[in-house]
Amino acid sequence: MNAAPHTARSLAALVGGCFAVLAIAGAAHASGAGRASGAAIYSVHCAVCHQGKGQGVALAFPALADTVGRYLHAPDGREYLVRVVSFGLSGEISSNGVDYDGVMQSWTQLSDAEIAAVLNHVLTHFNARTVPADFKPYTAAEVRRIRTARRSFDQVRAERAGILKSLGASATAPRAIKAH
Ligand code: HEC
Repeated sequence: MNAAPHTARSLAALVGGCFAVLAIAGAAHASGAGRASGAAIYSVHCAVCHQGKGQGVALAFPALADTVGRYLHAPDGREYLVRVVSFGLSGEISSNGVDYDGVMQSWTQLSDAEIAAVLNHVLTHFNARTVPADFKPYTAAEVRRIRTARRSFDQVRAERAGILKSLGASATAPRAIKAH
């Protein structure tokens, strides 16, 4: 009779131990050079909503994985990603065919370098399949330039809609030409 709870406790301890080891391994990785600070910023500020691998939570927090890399193929996509993190976003949006109507605050407490690092992390780790081959990482100076021109939530949302429209238009243009 006592065997089962004991086994369950041992298992829990074992699983807990594994997470501790993973956490230490993750921290060691995060303290490494280069992209490391982007990973750390992501896990502290973003993962609570967008989840550890950027997979999001359907109907609550849109995925960042395999969704935002393609924005870089639109003319204003690069600026949009800086603006959405710098100035926030609220209201109805659609992502991966699912509707969201949430609020993301503006990340005023992050420095230009931190915004550059977290975006580079999201793009290179969660969007490697859709990021353009000639993608150049964001720099703090680029973020600063874009960030100095303030935008409201509504402006950011309108910009997002324009980007999706232009991506849709460019995706369907060749077929439209063939049809005529
Ligand atoms: C409290 C939850 C929360 C946190 C924390 C959060 N976000 Fe968001 N984020 C959202 C929500 C909600 C939306 C969509 C808002 C809407 O529905 O209009 C969003 C939207 C976005 C978008 C736009 C996605 C798209 O398809 O256009 C990006 C990019 C983004 N977040 C990046 C980040 C980054 C980077 C961080 C960390 C610095 C972060 N978010 C932290 C909730 C959050």
